[in-house]
Amino acid sequence: MTETKKVSEMEPDEIKKAVREAYSRVADVGNEKDSATSCCDPPAQTSSSCCPPEAKVTTASLTEALGYDTKGMPISATESFAGCGNPVALASLKEGEVVLDLGSGAGLDMFVASKKVGESGKVIGVDMTPAMIEKAKKNAVELGITNVEFRFGDIEDMPVDDNSVDVVISNCVINLAPSKAKVFQEAYRVLKPGGRVMVSDIVLSKPLPKEVSDEVITYTGCIGGAILDEEYLQHMRDAGFEDVKITSKAGQSLHGSYSAYVAGRKPE
Ligand SMILES: C[S@@+](CC[C@H](N)C(=O)[O-])C[C@H]1O[C@@H](n2cnc3c(N)ncnc32)[C@H](O)[C@@H]1O
Repeated sequence: MTETKKVSEMEPDEIKKAVREAYSRVADVGNEKDSATSCCDPPAQTSSSCCPPEAKVTTASLTEALGYDTKGMPISATESFAGCGNPVALASLKEGEVVLDLGSGAGLDMFVASKKVGESGKVIGVDMTPAMIEKAKKNAVELGITNVEFRFGDIEDMPVDDNSVDVVISNCVINLAPSKAKVFQEAYRVLKPGGRVMVSDIVLSKPLPKEVSDEVITYTGCIGGAILDEEYLQHMRDAGFEDVKITSKAGQSLHGSYSAYVAGRKPE
């Protein structure tokens, strides 16, 4: 059982397996209310939390606190939400743009983005948890949204063509990737020249105590895999991004972790 092992003793594939197992349970939240363990669930909140402090633990109040307009959405589109921000609200999406959502989960950010880019645009979601992809597909059908596409895959090796995307968004996911460097190299590869990144994620203002970063539940709860804010920005610059910055922060949380909006741009 992976949960008893220390994260520092695990191979990247073992870490991803633990993450996939945790988010399969989050995808199943509508079926098994008590089994979820995500960033924003009460069990994880005891040791970690990617929810901003002002957000309560229900997904309804969390999405409201983050400024989502979920009117008309079925509960299955919001109940597995596990984000720590609202990147679409800040991404200045335009009609006709192609958007890529890294770790798209049950699809909420994709559905919001799909309205902004319209029928002439498109939103692609990549996720490595089959149960999340299935749930997001069902939600899109229920919502009658057709300009979205869900791809099973790893954001460290994205199933997306070079220079094909206008905007990369992501909500509380990159902290879960064992190699942040690979994620940003891939984001750079798939973006068109001039393309932009707008992600919300958990970062750290100081290093985590080893005993905290070594807990699997803290890792899958979006804290244990988080890195220092400056290190995060440096990975983006090393990948080639310009104008890299944290545009806003939600309050400090456990062990100096906080929720940040991070922006960058691929040069023309
Ligand atoms: C905290 S949830 C966030 C989901 C969604 N962005 C939201 O805001 O509700 C993390 C999601 O990222 C996915 N994920 C984590 N690591 C991944 C990776 N390396 N490649 C693809 N998806 C990944 C998980 O399967 C899960 O659906």
